[in-house]
Amino acid sequence: MSIKTEFTQQFDVRYPIICAPMFLVSSVKMVVSASEAGGVGTFPALNYRPIERYRQTIKEIKSLTAKPFGINIIVQKSNKYQYKQIEHALEEKVPLIITSLGNPKEVIRLSHEVGTRVYCDVVGFEQAKKVADLGADGLIAVGFGAGGHAGDISPLALIPNLVRMVKLPIIAAGSIVDGAGMAAAFALGASAVYMGTRFIASKEAEIAEEYKKAITRAVSEDIVNTDRVDGFPGNFIRTKELEAVGLEKGLIEEILTKNKKIKRFISLSRAARSLFGDMDSKVSYKTVYSAGHGVGLIDTVLSIQEIMEKTVREYKETKAKLP
Ligand SMILES: Cc1cc2nc3c(=O)[nH]c(=O)nc-3n(C[C@H](O)[C@H](O)[C@H](O)COP(=O)(O)O)c2cc1C
Repeated sequence: MSIKTEFTQQFDVRYPIICAPMFLVSSVKMVVSASEAGGVGTFPALNYRPIERYRQTIKEIKSLTAKPFGINIIVQKSNKYQYKQIEHALEEKVPLIITSLGNPKEVIRLSHEVGTRVYCDVVGFEQAKKVADLGADGLIAVGFGAGGHAGDISPLALIPNLVRMVKLPIIAAGSIVDGAGMAAAFALGASAVYMGTRFIASKEAEIAEEYKKAITRAVSEDIVNTDRVDGFPGNFIRTKELEAVGLEKGLIEEILTKNKKIKRFISLSRAARSLFGDMDSKVSYKTVYSAGHGVGLIDTVLSIQEIMEKTVREYKETKAKLP
């Protein structure tokens, strides 16, 4: 069984399913399992520090699978490791780089010299047009309801508008956890799905059992959107630990954040602390659990291969049942 789309043809893979990069969740085991199962495994470069360990990780993945995989790199100034992360990824001829934030111009230029494809995360149309003009090979449409830093636009509007705007493969991200979600994404014109939350509840995820339980127990209403964890609005499961972060703004912060510059400063300092600070610091993606609105549809922990095959099976069933 396989599904042919522009994405699967670009990467020569069986399934148009990307196991999305997840800070402090994605691991070598998850990447290799996803790619071996017929999809594409990915990880955020920041999960492996220092830089020597990151390079070693790329080599390790290559020794465990010959299938394509991808690395997510933050190309914004705040990521002072970005140049080394790009350099090593390109020296190792990683098939796919996924950029978040910032300007991907340089990484696109350098990647194309060695045959690496660059997909860019987008949450809006201006940004999509800009990265398409810079030569991106595909766009990740991060819609409302996604795990991590979700966008504000409903996938129902985001995906078809992007499909009309640019002639590139559009990858649908946000609340896709099963074959019905995949069918919906394809109906809107997507070329692949980018699933994060579903793969957290996988046997291969090397995270606290509590996190997996929180995913299988939570319903969509348990997802809270807050910027209190790392400075950027993100989706998290409401837990005691999340409430302890203080979901309400204090009066002083309320006043200060009315000023755009101060607000940006507060956001960036929180983000820098969370992303580039000590990985075991008090509030991190290890103590509070990020997830998308799709949690309500996940009730079992399965292997990555089972998740991929179930999704593809359900997709075919859904398609056959459509009125
Ligand atoms: C725990 C967690 C960590 C994430 N970390 C990152 C990250 O480091 N970089 C990134 O581009 N996206 C990150 N994301 C977003 C995912 O790559 C993806 O866009 C999202 O999970 C898709 O929505 P879904 O979770 O509803 O499937 C993260 C998501 C989660 C749930």
